[in-house]
Amino acid sequence: MSDDSRPSRTEPPTEPRTALRTAAVIPAAGRGVRLGPGAPKALRALNGTPMLVHAVRALAASRAVSLVVIVAPPDGAPEVKSLLDAHALPGGTPGGSWGSTDFLVVPGGESRQESVKLGLDALPPDYDIVLVHDAARPLVPVDTVDAVIQAVRDGAPAVVPALPLADTVKEVEPAAVPGDPEPVVATPRRARLRAVQTPQGFDRATLVRAHETVTDNVTDDASMVEQLGGQVVVVPGHEEAFKVTRPLDLVLAEAVLARRRLNDGF
Ligand code: C5P
Repeated sequence: MSDDSRPSRTEPPTEPRTALRTAAVIPAAGRGVRLGPGAPKALRALNGTPMLVHAVRALAASRAVSLVVIVAPPDGAPEVKSLLDAHALPGGTPGGSWGSTDFLVVPGGESRQESVKLGLDALPPDYDIVLVHDAARPLVPVDTVDAVIQAVRDGAPAVVPALPLADTVKEVEPAAVPGDPEPVVATPRRARLRAVQTPQGFDRATLVRAHETVTDNVTDDASMVEQLGGQVVVVPGHEEAFKVTRPLDLVLAEAVLARRRLNDGF
């Protein structure tokens, strides 16, 4: 892991002559049962600040992102709105509040897919590029966000950041009883596999069509575009864009924040 892996604002995506406006949708309505009992996952604190606030800051750190739509737990939109109001710093700070980036809060649904759809429905018309970013990936560096946006601006209808895998992956026949031995069905070649992160970036019309058409339960938005025959491309992801899923991930996330503070010199 290199020391300069913390977020840094390098080259923002270049503006084409007719600038394509970029909005982000953050599904944050999950309960996060794998993290253990407590508040909904997005509202759990990392170093005293809710994970969702970190995630909004991470996207607002990109100069290209001018609107963030946060999809709150179905009964939690007012709470999330006041939380964000409490953390917003109009005008922004060098370290990264959302400054001039607007945000909207809408109530979410039963599945991630439904939550993203509700976020898309709330988007004003004048946005051509949409990012979808899990609240559970609070530490994604701005360079990763910008690389995704740039690839969409360069013409890809769907873009995902991803990393090669460290582990070999087996496909199994899942056991009927959890914990029972599971027969291995196949071992895909590791060199051809990528672990996919967010933000995933889309030409808006492509993503809207995917959400209107695909009804299978999916775990990411790009796979809906694949199902419609659309091309999805991968750009390099970042190890700090990991998903906070289990208790150990909280420890790792706080360690990353501590390292960033050290590197920032305060
Ligand atoms: O459950 P998983 O970790 O895949 O969730 C990914 C993201 O989707 C999280 O940010 C979670 O809050 C969000 N989600 C949602 N609505 C749901 C379920 C999950 O917005 N009903």
